[in-house]
Amino acid sequence: MNVLGIETSCDETAAAVVTGDGAVLSSIVASQAELHARFGGVVPEVASRRHLELVSPVVRAALEDAGVGLEHVDRVGVTQGPGLVGALLVGLSAAKAIAWARGLPLVPVDHLQGHVASLYLEPDPLEPPFTCLLASGGHTMVLAVRDRSGFDVLGSTIDDAAGEAFDKVARVLGLGFPGGPAIDRHAREGDPAHIAFPRGLTGGRDPIYDFSFSGLKTAVARWVEARRRDGEDVPVAHVAASFQEAVADVLTRKAVRACRDNGVDHLMIGGGVAANTRLRALAAERCEAAGIRLRVPRPGLCTDNGAMVAALGAEMVARGRAASTLDLPADSSLPVTEVSVPGHTHTHTPGQGQGHSHAHAHEVAGGNLY
Ligand code: KG4
Ligand code: ZN
Repeated sequence: MNVLGIETSCDETAAAVVTGDGAVLSSIVASQAELHARFGGVVPEVASRRHLELVSPVVRAALEDAGVGLEHVDRVGVTQGPGLVGALLVGLSAAKAIAWARGLPLVPVDHLQGHVASLYLEPDPLEPPFTCLLASGGHTMVLAVRDRSGFDVLGSTIDDAAGEAFDKVARVLGLGFPGGPAIDRHAREGDPAHIAFPRGLTGGRDPIYDFSFSGLKTAVARWVEARRRDGEDVPVAHVAASFQEAVADVLTRKAVRACRDNGVDHLMIGGGVAANTRLRALAAERCEAAGIRLRVPRPGLCTDNGAMVAALGAEMVARGRAASTLDLPADSSLPVTEVSVPGHTHTHTPGQGQGHSHAHAHEVAGGNLY
């Protein structure tokens, strides 16, 4: 079985062909990062228009790369949400058009669950139950993954997502957009202990699995502004390394804690921020010390891509999920589950995927597909 996956929830137009047993035949990601860079963040209307231009050539490139025609595709998986509604609608419309024209079943998938499904595209994946730390431009959560089709949210950010903090700090430092990869690069030359930036929500009385990054972002901005006011040079590499260390410290600390508290000794990390070199290294170190088996998909599967959507689509078909009808709507804020953890109960409703993007550009030529 070949599944075509289409992802357009934020600023990456992506398509992939994945087989029923998880082999990635192709994965094309057209990043809009450069387009949004001049605005310092994703502009929803601009993103929708660009998706419209890119979606057909990206799908065609995915089919060509996989060496298959539409006649060899058995299912179309597509991100239904959460994300920017105009952006989602472009992918959904393309998926519906293909499904209708070829008489193929249409399988809608949840973007967050897609990030979890990226794990199943790697060799020797963990099997549920496992803990998942999901850190992207739009979301930061700790999930208890029950089985391949469901999870509970143990905690999430109460303000900025981790990737959003990377992007905002990069803007303060003048490193451009998207910020994550730039900070990652600059941090290699810096000292992570140079500045002791705050670790949000790590006090004894704070919610154990929730995150807060907006105080950290403000602390970095104030520190940088103070140096500039005094006419001093800003040690960009040290600031980047110290900020990155604070994020990686909090994320890994809480993820390991969730594993320990829930008696789970498997952890996966997904989402764009999981591409971060320091986060990956610190997670490996702390998991080894705690006897936890860790899996982090390769960076290209952490950031938004179509392969995770196709993989989840294939999984849902295997589980007997019925195909959707062609009136399937976009859902920009797909509800995530009600949280019920001893001593820690509240409802999480994730906001729109204000996610940003990373620089995985794969230029494709224009043209019509159908
Ligand atoms: O998962 P993703 O591609 O899109 C969303 O669903 O949001 O994540 C994008 C986010 C951006 O904020 C970007 O700056 C961040 O992931 N990111 C990184 C790195 N690569 C991408 N953050 C830190 N280090 C990286 N190497
Ligand atoms: Zn994402």
